[in-house]
Amino acid sequence: MIISPSILSADFARLGEQIAILEAAGCTCLHLDVMDGRFVPNISFGVPVVASLRHATTMSFYTHLMIRDPLKFTAAFSAAGSDAIIFHIEACPNPEYTRALFAEIKRLGRKCGVALNPETPAQAMVELLPHIDHALVMSVMPGFGGQSFIRESLEKISILREYRTGLGLRFEIGVDGGVTADNLGDLVLAGADRAVVGSAIFAKEDPGAAFAALMAGPRH
Ligand code: DX5
Ligand code: ZN
Repeated sequence: MIISPSILSADFARLGEQIAILEAAGCTCLHLDVMDGRFVPNISFGVPVVASLRHATTMSFYTHLMIRDPLKFTAAFSAAGSDAIIFHIEACPNPEYTRALFAEIKRLGRKCGVALNPETPAQAMVELLPHIDHALVMSVMPGFGGQSFIRESLEKISILREYRTGLGLRFEIGVDGGVTADNLGDLVLAGADRAVVGSAIFAKEDPGAAFAALMAGPRH
């Protein structure tokens, strides 16, 4: 299981320092939560923060766009240094839009991720699966860190894993929201390859140690 720390719960006044601590603990990937106050009821940060972080680390950046009209901003987040662009299926108004977004991410040479809100069934993305690198199951309502894990997400992860096997595909399955040392084992069993962790790292006194403990594996 790969752990992707989400900086949403970090101390933004000490972001560079906090990221260096994670990197020293062996972290190779950051999850960057972009919110526009429209797709979700909260605002986080945008392109300049991603660009600044790009100069501070070589870790890969998975940029999670919780915004309306992600196509409009994909090139900017790519130029800022995102390695993967994750957009929400719920933010795509029609199939033509989704196709254009795939084409744009491919043109930019970035990995393509699609996120699913808790109320959206896995079936909604079956047709997209051959075109993606990453499927992200939201295990909380997007918008805020520190929420409780929605257990029905485990079944959605398993369904995606079955689709992947059945269709002979290779996309990675991620899970985002409410992940802690206590549910990590269930997530591994369900089939998640990558877990996004915000508050269970950054709300701890020692984020580096919290990251290392999660990487060491589920609590038994
Ligand atoms: C929620 C974000 C998540 C969140 C994770 O909208 O997409 O990445 O910050 O934070 P925790 O781990 O605190 O749920
Ligand atoms: Zn996220």
